[in-house]
Amino acid sequence: MKLTLKIWRQKNATAQGKMETYQVSDISEHMSFLEMMDVLNEQLIAEGKEPVAFDHDCREGICGSCSMYINGQPHGPRQATTTCQLHMREFNDGDTIYIEPWRAKAFPVMKDLVVDRSAFDRIIQSGGYVSVNTSGNTLDANAIPIPKEDADEAFNAATCIGCGACVAACKNASAMLFVSAKVSQLSLLPQGQVERKERVLNMVDQMDKEGFGNCTNTGACSVECPKEISLENIARMNRDYLAASVTK
Ligand code: SF4
Ligand code: FES
Repeated sequence: MKLTLKIWRQKNATAQGKMETYQVSDISEHMSFLEMMDVLNEQLIAEGKEPVAFDHDCREGICGSCSMYINGQPHGPRQATTTCQLHMREFNDGDTIYIEPWRAKAFPVMKDLVVDRSAFDRIIQSGGYVSVNTSGNTLDANAIPIPKEDADEAFNAATCIGCGACVAACKNASAMLFVSAKVSQLSLLPQGQVERKERVLNMVDQMDKEGFGNCTNTGACSVECPKEISLENIARMNRDYLAASVTK
């Protein structure tokens, strides 16, 4: 198929960006979206032009780095699918596709489609871990009974890949879905209880410091999330935060 691509080009963090138009042809419907982008970049390199910068790593839907807006939707038109797992069969010959970076104050554009998502790393560093007793008496994790329902919920929360689509989709650029998934995956398990209060207070505090917006319960985050992280996690985090605030 033949496509017209309208892509955000921006030299660096301080330069002014703009949409540029490119044509690509011989695109197979079996290619992934990123393979289509590779074809464009090979074409640009052959023409002596600067290739389009975009983040990618696993190309298997697990690392969360292939974040971009495609036709106004984070990760494109297919639900529960990352950009790297999106295939060109979702598009038609002759289509015009608009490709842009995430837009959020806390995710500044570094170059073209690449944004700085280190704010997420700093939120994790502020509490997204469990301390393990390595005294020699450590209990085998599998020896601790966990209700199936809790284990399933914790696992679902742990499928968050930190892509930032929730922030990009939110009209307030809120990071509540991401943070609540990272809080829930630990607070639901016995291993996460020791630091439970500190964790939620510190992670929410860091989220606010990073400049993410507030949650107004619109739910766009969950709809656009490639891992279908549930809004239940936000409710759980709010309960945890309140309980931790009044008992600290
Ligand atoms: S909650 Fe969903 S959209 Fe947000 S970072 Fe995690 S996987 Fe990505
Ligand atoms: S490249 Fe890893 S999730 Fe897309």
